[in-house]
This record gives sequence, structure tokens and C-alpha cells, in this order.
Amino acid sequence: MKKILITGGAGFIGNHVVRRFVNKYPDYEIYNLDSLTYAGNLENLTDIDKKPNYHFIKGDIADQEFIMNLFQEYQFDGVIHLAAESHVDRSIKDPMTFVHTNVLGTVHLLNAARTIWNGNWEGKKYYQISTDEVYGALGDTGSFKETTPYNPHSPYSAAKASADHFVRAYHDTYGMPTVVSNCSNNYGPYQFPEKLIPLFINNIKNNKPLPVYGKGINVRDWLYVEDHAEAIDLIFHEAKPGETYNIGGNNEWRNIDLIKKLIEIMDRKLGRPEGTSLQLITYVTDRAGHDLRYAIDPTKIKNELGWEPKVKFAEGFEKTVDWYLANEEWFNHVTSGAYVEYYKKMYEGR
Ligand code: NAD
Ligand code: DAU
Repeated sequence: MKKILITGGAGFIGNHVVRRFVNKYPDYEIYNLDSLTYAGNLENLTDIDKKPNYHFIKGDIADQEFIMNLFQEYQFDGVIHLAAESHVDRSIKDPMTFVHTNVLGTVHLLNAARTIWNGNWEGKKYYQISTDEVYGALGDTGSFKETTPYNPHSPYSAAKASADHFVRAYHDTYGMPTVVSNCSNNYGPYQFPEKLIPLFINNIKNNKPLPVYGKGINVRDWLYVEDHAEAIDLIFHEAKPGETYNIGGNNEWRNIDLIKKLIEIMDRKLGRPEGTSLQLITYVTDRAGHDLRYAIDPTKIKNELGWEPKVKFAEGFEKTVDWYLANEEWFNHVTSGAYVEYYKKMYEGR
């Protein structure tokens, strides 16, 4: 019997990780801790929330007393830490929320784990889910390795980098069994429609402009979210303390090419003549500090843990579009209310 704390399990990647662990490991007790910000949604978990090994706890990881009490009460054996403020554009408008959750929240979790485990590291693991954005931006060639120095540019990536440094410091200073993974852009079901792919699916569906930042030439390396969840499972169970793994899709796309591909798929699925939605493409003011290119070198995780992405992009992208089109109610729920205000604030006058 193992008690695993998964933070941020009501968010995009978190719900896939929680689902995988609850279904695959019936002998583990899975505790999903989430404060349910705009990005957290319990509707994402309705298929598993009645399972006997699943437990939801509502709370803020940056609430020191609450976190310490929680660890004291449940005596977790492992932590998989995904909870974060995750959207770069929001971090540009409001950096402090990112410091609160991504930095302070992470350090409170580390302190609580260190206190409860009290040097008895046997069978314990603290796993920090991080991003490739901490490495900064690449030019036209090259890729991020685990040894690439951190060089974050946005308040989001700076906060994630800071948190990663704390995690490694707790390993090096106290001997805590920590691991870190840095992943590229995820896509798939249940992603909040502030991020490129679900936002553009929603806009194409509703014939709204598609706001392409700058010239649309920035490059991202896309990975299907369930492949990321599989890598997390493997790293949690197999990685040695102190290790870092980069996770990527071997799947680089310039934004504008990805958007044109999405338009092709959407027009076909919506029964519109080919190319109809191309007219929705609208070039807008670039994101401040916009990183030109990210690409992951996944050699280490492939050679050491035997992990490779399973889902081919053509298949995963179609599946993703199908999911959003089939789950109109989910879309309507998350885009009502505060979303309208968010959209105005981010895109009006851009
Ligand atoms: P998300 O924004 O969809 O979900 C974040 C979750 O954290 C939400 O459920 C939210 O309610 C919760 N949360 C936020 N603040 C909290 C707080 N103070 N206390 C408790 N819960 C809180 O994010 P995501 O895209 O699923 O990303 C999850 C993790 O993976 C993040 O750490 C992110 O940095 C990392 N990551 C994301 C990607 C990606 O492409 N989305 C890629 C690499 C790494
Ligand atoms: O690389 C991993 C990161 O990927 C994660 O750490 C982040 O949490 C996640 O949000 C994602 O960050 P990006 O900034 O790359 O994702 P986003 O979907 O916001 O943007 C993808 C690209 O599309 C980026 O170059 C900016 C561009 N873009 C985005 C939006 C929302 C647009 O051109 N227009 C838009 O409206």
C-alpha cells in the first residue's frame, strides 16, 4: 500500500496522471490536492472519482500550515507535484501569482515532505513536474539536454526554474530523494482554452479571429498528453534520486504550420469547404519575450528508461480535435463567466 499525493490533478496534465495512477495501481491510495483555480476542473475526473482508491482534497499548496497538517495527517510516501500557474501570457500580466504558487507552493511541499520523512528516505520519492521553458530559447538548430543551463525568459518559466532549483537543493543539501522532469508542449483532451490548440479549436468552431502572435514562426515540440503521463509513471517508479529527465515529442512545428494543419482538419470535420477558416488567421502583437524555439533531446529517457512517445502526431491531433468537438458541454462550461473577461483583457487592442 502506497499513499501518493498528486498536486494539480484537476488541471490538464494532472487529470491524465491521476486517471492513469488510479486505474493502473488499485493498491495505491491516490490523493489529488488542487485549489481549483480557473484551470482546475473536477468535471475532468468524473469517470474515476468514485473509485475507492481516489481522494480529492481542496487546498492551496502555498498555505504553509494547511500543507504541514496535511502531510502529518496522511503520511504520504510519494509526491508528484504538478500544481502550478501554467500560462505564460498570464504570468506577463500578473507575475506574483506565479511566485505564490510555483515558488512558495513548491517550497512548502518540500518542507512538509522533509519534516514528515525526517531522514527516513526508504520508499519515498518527491517528483517535480517541470517544463522545457526553463532552458530558454533555441535558435534554428540544437535541442535542450538535461545539462543545458537554465535561462528562463518569462515570469512563468523563471518561477518554474526557481522551484526546480529548490527541489535539487533539497536533494543535494538534505539527501531528499527528488527527481525532476522537463517536458515540451503537451496537447490533448481537457486543456484549458487559453492555450494555443484548444483556443484555436474553439475560435474556428465559432468563426472567431485566430490571434497569431508575431509572424507565427515560433517553434514548439508537441507531445500527446497521455505519452507524458506514461513518462511520469515510469520516472516516478524507476528514476534514481537526484536524476533529471527531458521529455519531448520529436515533433517540432512552426506555429503557423500547426495552425494551418488544424484549420485543414477542422474545416473537414465541420463540413466546410477546404481552406474556409484560413481567413480567420489574424496576426497580432507578439508575446513579450516570446521564445523562438523549443526542442527536446530525449536520448536520456529513451536509453535509460526505454520511453518513447507512442502516439503519432497525425493520430493524436485528430483525436484531440474529435474530443473537443464531442465535448461541447465541457467547452461551454469552461468558457462561460470569467473566461469572457479573460479573453477581453488578453486580446482586445492587441
Ligand atoms: P493547468 O494550468 O492546466 O493545471 C494546473 C492545476 O494546478 C489546476 O488544476 C489548478 O487548479 C492547480 N493549482 C494552481 N494553483 C494551485 C495552488 N496554489 N494550489 C493547489 N492547486 C493549484 O496546468 P498543466 O498544463 O496541466 O500543467 C501541469 C504542470 O505541468 C505544471 O507544473 C506545468 O508547469 C507543467 N508542464 C506543462 C506543460 C504543458 O504543455 N501544459 C508542459 C511541460 C510542463
Ligand atoms: O513548453 C512547455 C510549455 O508549453 C508549458 O510549460 C506551459 O505551461 C504551456 O502553456 C506551454 O507554453 P507555450 O507558451 O509554448 O504555450 P501556448 O499554448 O501559450 O503557446 C504556444 C505557441 O503559440 C507560443 O509560441 C505562443 C503562440 N500563441 C499562443 C496563443 C495562446 C499564439 O500565437 N496565439 C495565442 O493566442
